[in-house]
Formats: sequence, structure tokens, C-alpha cells
Amino acid sequence: MDKSANTQPAVHELIRKRWSPRAFDNREVEPEKLERLFEAARWSASCFNEQPWRFIVGVRGRDETYSKIFGTLAEGNKIWCRHAPVLVLLAGKKLFSRNGKPNDWYLYDLGQAAAYISVQATAEGLYVHQMAGFDARKAQTLFRVPDDYRVFTAMAIGYLGNPEILPEDLKKSESAPRERIELKNLVFAEKWGENFNWK
Ligand SMILES: Cc1cc2nc3c(=O)[nH]c(=O)nc-3n(C[C@H](O)[C@H](O)[C@H](O)COP(=O)(O)O)c2cc1C
Repeated sequence: MDKSANTQPAVHELIRKRWSPRAFDNREVEPEKLERLFEAARWSASCFNEQPWRFIVGVRGRDETYSKIFGTLAEGNKIWCRHAPVLVLLAGKKLFSRNGKPNDWYLYDLGQAAAYISVQATAEGLYVHQMAGFDARKAQTLFRVPDDYRVFTAMAIGYLGNPEILPEDLKKSESAPRERIELKNLVFAEKWGENFNWK
């Protein structure tokens, strides 16, 4: 299924092609591809170059990491995630290493790293589906994540599968058109709400 964004004006193909499927194929992700996703994350920008992102990667069939992550997912996410060959937890370091003070931008930086993973995944022919629907506290405990780190999101990674594997309601949303706020309602100049003039 092609759910490429119908962008106006055109944008880079890696941005256009990325979307969040629920129908994942059973096919395994090649280890070298998987490594490149996290290498991409490593080169994301961060406040004071703190690099607050950390990842717990569960590869199906390898060890118990996958099933432990799976066990933290919301029921609604379990329904489709069970097809995904890779599950990841994303955590951020709350304090600056340089002075031990709170880093107010650590979640911003973590999100950027996640975006890099998604874009690199697209370049590899893979898809990423990010999730807030999981028990972060449970994950924090299960993986003994230290208190100065916060487990914040999860993601499923894999190849695109056949929507027929999904229950009826999810099958429908899998093929539904993707919606976005219009650009003119996002980009301002002069004062808030005043359209930026692109010419
Ligand atoms: C932080 C975050 C949390 C999300 N949580 C969930 C989730 O728990 N379950 C789910 O099915 N999708 C989840 N999504 C996926 C979004 O619904 C999806 O990105 C959005 O609808 C836009 O669709 P697109 O990624 O295909 O462009 C999440 C996405 C992000 C970035």
C-alpha cells in the first residue's frame, strides 16, 4: 500500500514516503539495517550536544527483550504490534551531564532522534510506527531504567505487510487518507496567525 503524502509543494521522497502502518510483514529486519537506524539517531542534534536519547531494542526471537516490551503495550497496540519484528523503547536522560541540572529540552531531542530513525528507516525500505500507548512505568521497572532517565515512547519497526492481516476497523484506517493541518495555518509572520508570504 502506498500512503505517500500528497505534498504541495513537493518535498524529499524520504519525507513523502514515511507513514505509520499497522500491518507489518513477518519478515525479519536485517541487523545491519537496524544498526543504521540507530546510527542515524546518534547524529541528530541536541541541546548542548547532550545526546539524551537511549534505546532498548527488542528483536523477535532473539531474547526476552521483545516480549518484555510487548507486555508493556496498550491492548489496542498489541493487536497490530504482534506482527512487527522489532519493538523499541525510547528513553531520555532528564539531567544535563555537564552540570546535573534539569535539561528542559531532553524530550525535544528524543523526538528528533525518533524522527531520524523514521527517515533512515524509509531509506532502508522499512517502516516505523511510534507509540505513546504503552505502560512507561512498567517498562521503566522491567528494564531497571535509572531514575534520571525517563522511558517516554515506544516504536514498532518492520517491513510493510498486507492489511488483510488486520481486524476490520484497523484495516479501514490503514487505507484511510492521511490528513494534515494546512501549511497556512502553521507558519506565521508579523503576528501570530498572520500568514507567512512564501513569494
Ligand atoms: C508520540 C507518538 C505517539 C503515538 N502513539 C500511537 C499509539 O499509541 N498507537 C498508534 O496506533 N499510533 C500512535 N502514533 C501514530 C500516530 O497516530 C501517527 O503518526 C499519526 O496519525 C500520523 O500518521 P502518519 O505517521 O502515518 O503520518 C503515535 C505517534 C507519535 C509521534
